[in-house]
Amino acid sequence: MNDQEQFANRLQKMAKHTGKWARRQGITCYRVYDADLTSHPLVIDRYGDWVHLAEYKREMDMDEREYRTWRFIIRQTISEVMEVPNERIIFKERAPQKGDSQYEKRAATGKEIQVQESGLTFLVNLEDYLDTGLFLDHRQTRAMVRELSQGKRFLNLFAYTGSFTVYAAAGGARSSLTLDLSNTYLEWAQRNLDVNGLSAPEHVIERADVLEWLRVKPQDQWDLIVMDPPTFSNSKMMRAVLDIQRDHVGLIEAGVMRLARGGTLIFSTNLRKFKLEEDRLPEGIQVKNITSQTIPPDFRNKKIHQCWMIRKEE
Ligand SMILES: C[S@@+](CC[C@H](N)C(=O)[O-])C[C@H]1O[C@@H](n2cnc3c(N)ncnc32)[C@H](O)[C@@H]1O
Repeated sequence: MNDQEQFANRLQKMAKHTGKWARRQGITCYRVYDADLTSHPLVIDRYGDWVHLAEYKREMDMDEREYRTWRFIIRQTISEVMEVPNERIIFKERAPQKGDSQYEKRAATGKEIQVQESGLTFLVNLEDYLDTGLFLDHRQTRAMVRELSQGKRFLNLFAYTGSFTVYAAAGGARSSLTLDLSNTYLEWAQRNLDVNGLSAPEHVIERADVLEWLRVKPQDQWDLIVMDPPTFSNSKMMRAVLDIQRDHVGLIEAGVMRLARGGTLIFSTNLRKFKLEEDRLPEGIQVKNITSQTIPPDFRNKKIHQCWMIRKEE
């Protein structure tokens, strides 16, 4: 069997397996293929009737023509196996990202589709940005937030399109504050709340440089905080440069200062080599690594993120 046939077989198997699992879970967006074969360093996600296909950059022994043929066959295989027309397969080349290039616009189709996750609806845009608007690797973390949020004051830092806020609101959070630097993402977060019928005056969405915002002496307290910062950030809109390995202790400390007693902060990072400097964290907290509980079963890459639950003692 050649490489392309092996890929077709693997995809067939995974599409069938994950499809069944997703139907049972009530989700329409999930990972089908996660760079399972070294010959095919691709990540294939299904979003409803669409496919989002990302290829990792690598050293290649193919010339341009061979590569184009290779890609053509892959698209055909995906289209046949996943029963999605070719024009609904969105292809993205993904080089390792640094700084803000991850958040730059690639196109301007403005085409949004709706996907479902655990009874909630999310708007995703598969073409215009490198990311889609919904990070699938945090599906279980979002479910945790829903479980924890009944009657709670919820703070979502580096909120992107507000998916954690939607879950918190659905879980009965008493109030929420959603902060991000990008107006585009904050408007998207508002639409995500709207489409679920969860918009309310107590769910506030605001533009802020979180690094600056955390420097100001806290006025309010929260019972539940999600802090999911980018690995690096040096946006023109920000005063400081963020380097999560270097800066995480200060960020977590500032987050803990905003927690009510008995409150919980969920901290997450996508930096593969990240090491939590636990001995430098403030006193009076309990820290638990919850990474294995938060990686969904459709992710074969168990290092997609690392996550901790930090509880402030009563
Ligand atoms: C990794 S994403 C967060 C993902 C989000 N928690 C989720 O699961 O959907 C990082 C976000 O941080 C935002 N960001 C980067 N630097 C920021 C800053 N200094 N203040 C506020 N937001 C920032 C970006 O606009 C982006 O939306």
